[in-house]
Amino acid sequence: MKKSLVLFLSMFAATAVFAGPPAPKKEGIEGKDYKWNAQEGEKVEALKLKGDKKRGEEAYEVCGACHLPSGAGRPDGTFPQLAGQHTTVLIKQMADIRAGLRDNPTMYPFAATLTDPQELADVSAYIESLCIPIEHGKYEGKDAAIMVAQGKELYEKQCKECHKANGEGEKEKFYPVIAGQHYKYLLRQMTEIRDGHRRNANPDMVKVIKPYTDQQLIAISAYQSSLTMPGSMCKPKAGKKK
Ligand code: HEC
Ligand code: HEC
Repeated sequence: MKKSLVLFLSMFAATAVFAGPPAPKKEGIEGKDYKWNAQEGEKVEALKLKGDKKRGEEAYEVCGACHLPSGAGRPDGTFPQLAGQHTTVLIKQMADIRAGLRDNPTMYPFAATLTDPQELADVSAYIESLCIPIEHGKYEGKDAAIMVAQGKELYEKQCKECHKANGEGEKEKFYPVIAGQHYKYLLRQMTEIRDGHRRNANPDMVKVIKPYTDQQLIAISAYQSSLTMPGSMCKPKAGKKK
């Protein structure tokens, strides 16, 4: 049943023929009145609630078709790794997608099916409890060693303060976990944030990344995809015995 659901969803995703109302659209980062992470709407409600992992697991079933049941997403970067992400970050991103502050036409119809703040809290509690897979999409160019070294230099100077030395982010401040994320997804986010297309981005981060060249975006993404969080990631091959 799962396999056919995946196939069904990818056919839909490929042809983009979803029925139903399109996502709303808020101005975001380029707008004059944009205040990052304004404390309003269902997000505030969901953040106050205690998520129930059991109910979250059920609500997550439809998500697993794209993000996989493990939460690992896909190494080709189409679907991000979610496992172990902070509940605060998950709730904010989903609320932003639902409210039209972050574009995600592929996922919008599914994000829209979450019924209320409690379900947002439940599914987030479940996803946060999943371990971060150690194996994921990395930068594979011949110059990987040079790129990772260049990226490390930039990261330590300009990103570590918020996303921390091992990419663990900061839950209370809504700074995402980056360790374990796929290179190609990272590069896409870096590009969209630099170019003003991820409209819910953090203005302080945008300032940092605005002057980056394409080459620097590759380097910073290569380095981020090399980060690991000692002790909080799955063992290699965990759950892949058969
Ligand atoms: C049809 C495929 C699909 C389904 C089903 C889906 N998503 Fe997604 N999701 C995506 C894509 C594609 C992105 C990345 C979009 C981008 O590049 O910005 C994403 C991004 C996200 C993000 C943001 C990740 C980050 O690191 O910022 C979260 C959180 C998320 N999804 C949660 C969910 C949850 C929870 C569900 C189930 C209710 C779900 N998704 C269902 C395709 C899907
Ligand atoms: C002032 C703190 C801050 C700084 C500095 C910062 N970031 Fe961020 N970053 C954030 C926040 C907050 C978000 C989530 C934004 C949102 O609400 O969507 C984010 C999002 C991201 C994402 C997207 C994660 C995802 O799952 O979609 C990546 C990747 C990232 N940052 C990498 C970097 C890199 C690389 C640098 C340095 C060049 C950097 N950040 C600098 C705060 C920061």
